[in-house]
Amino acid sequence: MTQELTSPTPTTARRAPEPGRAAGWWRDAVIYQVYVRSFADSDGDGIGDLRGARERLPYLAELGVDAVWLTPFYASPQADGGYDVADYRTVDPLFGELRDAEELIRAAHGLGLRVIVDIVPNHTSDRHPWFQDPELARQRYVFRPGKGAHGELPPNDWESVFGGPAWTRTDRGDWYLHLFAPEQPDLDWDNPDVHEEFAAILRFWLDLGVDGFRVDVAHGMVKAAGLPDIGHGEQAKLIGNQVLPFFDQDGVHAIHRTWRRLLDSYSAVPGQGTPPAERIGVAEAWAPSPERLALYVRPDELHQAFNFQFLTADWQAGALRTVIDASLAATASVGAPTTWVLSNHDVVRHRTRLGGGLPRARAATLLMLALPGSAYLYQGEELGLPEVTDLPDEVRQDPAFFRGRPAAGGAPDGASDGASGAGGQDGFRDGCRVPIPWTGDEPSYGFGPGGSWLPQPADWGGLSVAAQHGDPSSTLEFYRAALGLRRQLPGLGDGELSWRPAPEGVLTFARPGVLCTVNTLGRPVELPLPGRPLLASAPVTVRDGAAVLPGDSCVWWAL
Ligand code: GLC
Repeated sequence: MTQELTSPTPTTARRAPEPGRAAGWWRDAVIYQVYVRSFADSDGDGIGDLRGARERLPYLAELGVDAVWLTPFYASPQADGGYDVADYRTVDPLFGELRDAEELIRAAHGLGLRVIVDIVPNHTSDRHPWFQDPELARQRYVFRPGKGAHGELPPNDWESVFGGPAWTRTDRGDWYLHLFAPEQPDLDWDNPDVHEEFAAILRFWLDLGVDGFRVDVAHGMVKAAGLPDIGHGEQAKLIGNQVLPFFDQDGVHAIHRTWRRLLDSYSAVPGQGTPPAERIGVAEAWAPSPERLALYVRPDELHQAFNFQFLTADWQAGALRTVIDASLAATASVGAPTTWVLSNHDVVRHRTRLGGGLPRARAATLLMLALPGSAYLYQGEELGLPEVTDLPDEVRQDPAFFRGRPAAGGAPDGASDGASGAGGQDGFRDGCRVPIPWTGDEPSYGFGPGGSWLPQPADWGGLSVAAQHGDPSSTLEFYRAALGLRRQLPGLGDGELSWRPAPEGVLTFARPGVLCTVNTLGRPVELPLPGRPLLASAPVTVRDGAAVLPGDSCVWWAL
């Protein structure tokens, strides 16, 4: 008998909110990134907002994620999509007001979802009151005299991640450092005022009830003493591959240790019957190796660090196995879980980046969700959204586009190469930030009543939530099934991974209760039947003691 299987009976069982399941909730959590300006717009200005996000929380609860990470919604001139913060304790009117943040946190908790917010400590906006005051600015940011007879040359050869020199000259003749846009001056973390202010900001949001922080540029706050030249062209190629004088300096770890103590002080509320929920930090750190990355998740530092080595790996069995092994070994050496991710707001969506369209993207996701540790999903990947590669220049807003440096967000070579190589928009970041299609028939596909800040492709109605909901062959239902199974299978988010023999181009590994096969080849491969199929990223054929794995597929088998 021949049987074809893609999805099992969808499961809608949700874990009830579990205040008691506190210690280590993050170790195997699936966390969904909401890029607020592109998620849901409640007031019709074409820009997503906090109320829009709150109204869509039931969708995320039904999807089956454990937590939500919200990108910056603080007061900001929006020179870099809100990563240029002018006031860390105020919600930008574009996104609502503080009450909306409080209501969102409360509503999320009511649905059993935790909430992580972004914190941007490497730099502020140039409109931040500290930078606006020339005296304070010189104490709390990185100012230096220029080189050359009249100080007309930048103090060193560092380049901005977005392109061009990392220095801008002021009217007074000195220069300030900005690893990103000129509107994002770097703070001087040698100044105790900076430490104190950020501790107070963290407390402000913890007191409001957030469950943790995604720490932006967690590898950048400390620069090498003396700000030495790199003395090397093509600096962009070094980012993420080497320790540079401005990234991944050992000094950043002292800051993370202080923050961990602060987070722990909120996690341990004495006298409560159930253990309180842990408040966590997740590092956005482009470290040159899994070993350097693991330093950020030592027991007294942050809880998680995005595994960008996995994100930038090629879709090739050997490369994937190597990066999985190296990542698991590195994090195990410090007793931490690994944090997997395939897409975010800084890289080309993995449906496009991996070069194999939707089948490969679905296979990559199912592989990721079978690995021990936590996983981050980026809004819209559950709909199978591709990168939008034909945005006209007039609508683009990514500062990297205007400064001409595609290696966005400190992404190493692989991400930007993947972008252009796989038909992305040269690695610039607007193409992954196009607003979400919720319905097929409303203006801006139900994103909001007033259009959308980036144009959505004409054929996105068919990818909308409404179009996919309830269709067992859809990518949305596939994600729901995978997340549901991950919850039902005890220990799948944790525990051991052991490799099993597999033909060239195929990966086979065992996890608690599950065997996972990944066919990275573009053609079908036949295997002796590994077990009972639980979930497949593409229809798998089972007959006469054999299984035919479709090209670019991943299958979970019951052990
Ligand atoms: C991080 C953010 C990115 C931003 C940069 C500067 O990499 O993810 O979007 O541009 O930091 O804050």
